[in-house]
Parts: sequence; structure tokens; C-alpha cells
Amino acid sequence: MRRKLEIVALALAATLMLTAQAVAQNKTKDKAKTSMKMEQAPGISKAVAVLNPASGSNVRGVVTFTKDGNMVKVVADIEGLTPGNHGFHIHEFGDCSAKDGSSAGGHFNPAGAPHGAPADKQRHTGDLGNLVAGQDGKVHVEFSDPMLKLDGAGAIIGRGVIVHANPDDLKTQPTGNAGGRQACAVIGVAKP
Ligand code: CU
Ligand code: ZN
Repeated sequence: MRRKLEIVALALAATLMLTAQAVAQNKTKDKAKTSMKMEQAPGISKAVAVLNPASGSNVRGVVTFTKDGNMVKVVADIEGLTPGNHGFHIHEFGDCSAKDGSSAGGHFNPAGAPHGAPADKQRHTGDLGNLVAGQDGKVHVEFSDPMLKLDGAGAIIGRGVIVHANPDDLKTQPTGNAGGRQACAVIGVAKP
């Protein structure tokens, strides 16, 4: 009789230990799930690109990209330009190591679309149209773009920004025939 009781007690203890282990394992799994969710939501709300001269120009400036609902607000302050229109794009690579900016590659185009104007439904994500410099060679422009994203698939973080010597004609494939690259920048995460 006493022996039977001992066996029952041992069985009970073993069951309790197994249950405790299972609970602990589930807790660890839940923790892992939570931290994965946090990593999936990087929550980048602002980015910045500091343009430095390329190809021997004096073009320099700062472009900020700020989350604006479903859009991204672009604010550009650039100087050292010739008066008039200058092609303004996000390029595939955040690489300004080549003196002529060629290391930034072509227009950022994760959707495989043709080159176009900012208002076109079919366009390179990087097609931001033209900057219009005044007689003083400066431009300040603000606009919100529906195609740019700061995080997730197709985000612009780590890509390049190029300001061109000539106008973007908004139709010539795949460059807009905007000429040389006068300034280059890398898009980085900014303090919100
Ligand atoms: Cu370009
Ligand atoms: Zn383009």
C-alpha cells in the first residue's frame, strides 16, 4: 500500500515537472515572437541625404525625406546650380565613390517600370522630376510623393540621390536624358 502511494506521488511529481517545463518553453516561444514583431516594424520616420559636388561642380545641399501619412514629404535645399531645370532622382546605389557619380548606378526602380514623371502611375520609384534653380543658383522645394517608402520592401534608405546638369525630359528611356551628375548623396536614417 505504502509503495503504491510512493509510485503515485512520483508520477504526480514527474507530471508537474513536465508541465512546468512546457509552460517555460511556451513563454520563451512567446518572447521570441514578440521580439520578431518588433524587428519587423523598424519605424523609420525620417531620412536625410547630404549632397556633395560631383564631376567638378559646386552643387551641394540637403534633402530630407519625412513620413507623411501614406506619402513621403521631400524637402530639398540645394545651391551652386545653373539657373533652370535639373533632373533630380533617387538612384539604385548609395555609392558616391566615383568622382562623376556613376557609382550610384541607374534610377532606383524596384518595380521594373519605365522612366517617367513624378505624377505618372508607371515610373521609376526614383523619378522625382526636375529641380528648378533660380538666378542665384539655389532651389528650395517641398513636395509629397506617393511612391517613396522609408521602410519595408522597396525602401529608399541606403540608396543614392543625384542632381543632374540638364533637365529631365520625363520620357527618354531610361534616364530622362538629364546629362552629367553634378551632386551625389547617400540616403541615411535621420533623427525623427
Ligand atoms: Cu539621375
Ligand atoms: Zn527614371
